[in-house]
Parts: sequence; C-alpha cells; structure tokens
Amino acid sequence: MLDTGRLSFYHIFVSDMTLDLQYVRSQFPSLAGGWTFFDNAGGSQTARPVIDRLTDYLCTSNVQLGATYAPSLTAGERVLSATEQVATLVNAEYASEVVMGSSTTMLLRILSLGLARYLAPGDEVIVTNCDHEANIGPWIALADRGVTVKTWSLNRESYRLQTEELQRLMTDRTRLVAVPHVSNILGTINPIREIADMVHERGAWICVDGVAFAPHRLVDVRELDVDFYAYSFYKVYGPHQAVLYGKREHMLAIPGWNHFFFDESSLPAKFQPGGVNYELTASLGGIGDYLQGVASAHQVQETELRSASRQVFSLIADHEQTLSKQLLDFLDSKPKVRVIGDLRPAADFRVPTMSFVIDGTHSGSIPPEIDKQRIGIRYGHFYAKRLIDDLGLAERGGVVRVSMVHYNTLEEVDRLTAALDPLI
Ligand SMILES: Cc1ncc(COP(=O)(O)O)c(C=O)c1O
Repeated sequence: MLDTGRLSFYHIFVSDMTLDLQYVRSQFPSLAGGWTFFDNAGGSQTARPVIDRLTDYLCTSNVQLGATYAPSLTAGERVLSATEQVATLVNAEYASEVVMGSSTTMLLRILSLGLARYLAPGDEVIVTNCDHEANIGPWIALADRGVTVKTWSLNRESYRLQTEELQRLMTDRTRLVAVPHVSNILGTINPIREIADMVHERGAWICVDGVAFAPHRLVDVRELDVDFYAYSFYKVYGPHQAVLYGKREHMLAIPGWNHFFFDESSLPAKFQPGGVNYELTASLGGIGDYLQGVASAHQVQETELRSASRQVFSLIADHEQTLSKQLLDFLDSKPKVRVIGDLRPAADFRVPTMSFVIDGTHSGSIPPEIDKQRIGIRYGHFYAKRLIDDLGLAERGGVVRVSMVHYNTLEEVDRLTAALDPLI
C-alpha cells in the first residue's frame, strides 16, 4: 500500500494533476540518447534552458565583467540576475547572502577557513557520521585550532539521526552543528527545522548540506531557519557550480578569504576569491526557466518563480514517491536484499535515492551487469565513507545505489528490476 498518510503538505496546490513526463523529458536533450540514468545523486542531466543560456552567454557576452562597454555590462547583468534568481529560489532575504563557487566541497571549506579564525579554542562543533565528507572534513580540521569535535551518530536500526542524541552532545560551548538535509546514501529527509530550533536554543549555528535534497524539493532557507546551507547545481539540472547561503549577520562577522582590498562588508565577494565562473553562473538562470516552463506546461497560474516552483516541486514529490514505492517494493520482496535506509516511500520521509546490499554478493559485481542494459547505476561509499565504515559495509564494497529524479519513469524502474532480478 502506498503510504499516503503524511502527504497533505504536497497536495495543497496541484492535487489532481500528475507530472507530464513527456514534457519534462523533452527538456533534457541527453535523455534521447537511450540510456536510463539512475545515478542522479552523482549528477543529474542538464535542462535545455541551462544549455541555451550557457551557449548564449559564450556566444554573445564572454568578456570580463566590470567595464563600461556594452558586452561587459550585458555579462555583468546576466551574472547578477542569475545570482538573484538563485537567492529567490532558496528564499534568501538578500541576494548578497548567496555565495557562488565551483563545488559544495570548496564552499564549505572556504566557510570553515573563515570560521577557523572566528572560533576560539575550547569551542565545540558537532558533525554527523552520515554526511558526505564535504560537510565533515572541514569541521574536523578545526581541531587543529583547539576546537573540540564531537560526532552525532545515527541509529543503526532505523538509519535515522535521533534528536535526543544531539541534545545530549550539545553544551554551552557548542558553536556549530553540521548536518545533511538528506544523506546521499540513505535518502531520508532529516527534520532540519526541528534540529535548527534545538541548535539555536543553545546559541549555536547550523550548517546544512542540501546537495541530496535540492534536486527533489524546493529549498527554503528562511522556513528552515538555517545559518548556512550549501548545494551543487550539477545535481539540480544545471552546471558544475554550487551555492552557499549564509545568514547576512554571520557572513559579515566571519573573516573572508579575498584580496586585502575587499573589505569585510563586501558580500559575497569576501568568500569568492578569484571571482565566480561567469558563464556557469549565468547559465543558472536556466534552472528557473526550466521550472517555470514545467509550471506553465501544467497550467500553473502563478508566474512568480518561487510560487510556480513550489507547485512544480509538489508534482515532483508525488511522482518521485511513485518511483520510490515501485523500487522499494521490489527490493523489499527479495530476502537477500537489505535496503540501507527507510523503507517508507512517502515523500515526507525520503527522496528516491535507494541504497542496498545483497547477502553474499560484493556490491561491485552488480553495476557492470546492469550497464549492459544501458542503465547507469553505481556502487561504493559515495564519499560518505564514515557511514559506510560505521555500518560495517566497507568490505563488501559499500552499497549499490540507484538514485532517481523526476524525469525517470516507472518503465525505467521496471527495466531495472528486470535486470536486477536474476542477480539477486
Ligand atoms: C550529499 C553530498 N554532499 C556534498 C557533495 C559534494 O558536492 P560537490 O561535488 O559539489 O563538492 C556531494 C557530491 O556527491 C553529495 O552527494
């Protein structure tokens, strides 16, 4: 049975509509190539409007920003408006709270280098054991500055982070808690607002890795009340570029990393040493174009980006739940398979990133067999190495991961399960 008990939030807008997959798939040129892409948590396909904006930028305004001649002004306007659009998409209060960079890993490292000069010996940070290393390593490195690092480990039976455990770990010296919105192995959505409230009660900050969440649901940094939030656009239908949101007052207070003549009030430039990649930043506007295109293809009345996107992501959540259920039912029916994560498909609980292991089988033996059917999946620790080690899964090569997004279809899931069936 479909677990629909908690779906009310996702149904308030477009309750009787389903995602038009023909339209959606027509917006991703690479999907015409015959491959089924089930490695989307590694990187999604690129939406056509992103490709169009990138091409247009390179063909018509590929000059240095900041000069007075017309193409330079056009380039500056394109980079700025794409940045403002990202700020709107994540619901930041100010566009200057949005820092662009080459990757989430790089942006969180830059933030940690600033915090290293801001925190004092004896201060404490808390990391989880289920994040991607991008949101663990930089904080562990603060130990070199005399900061105490503690680990919040998930419950090994439920595969969930328990907030009572965080409560136990926090003290009056806790300054930062780093946590994933969704683990790229487990797929479970963590209750970030609840965690943020607990963290703020102790006077600390929360830094959230949203990489595995943002492709599936609309990010809302104000609703979540997060202090820092980062994610990567190459998993959200865009290019290899990433964003770090930081609350304005914190970003002003934390030392930056740019040249000496950028003063500490120059946001976001103080966190963008070397500047940003112009063409990739400009192309980000195509993500909003794509979402608005999906909205109008579904007769969504709202034209404003965030309200239109909210409705689009509601349709996405419904479709993803159907995909999740189909795959989880199959995996759950196989006695030799253990799903590493929550078995409930409901859109409130999880995104369609599924990891599993098979008794007596090395995880590495599965993907090459599936490749033969022109279906792309993969295995390993996915840079969440501490989680794979703690769960005792390293020796079997980590997990097999199937990570779906909204352009995947039930037919593709059927093809995958048919290919997996003889192997398990
Ligand atoms: C959950 C998660 N966080 C962080 C990252 C790192 O992102 P980037 O490659 O942009 O550094 C990844 C990449 O796979 C990820 O899956």
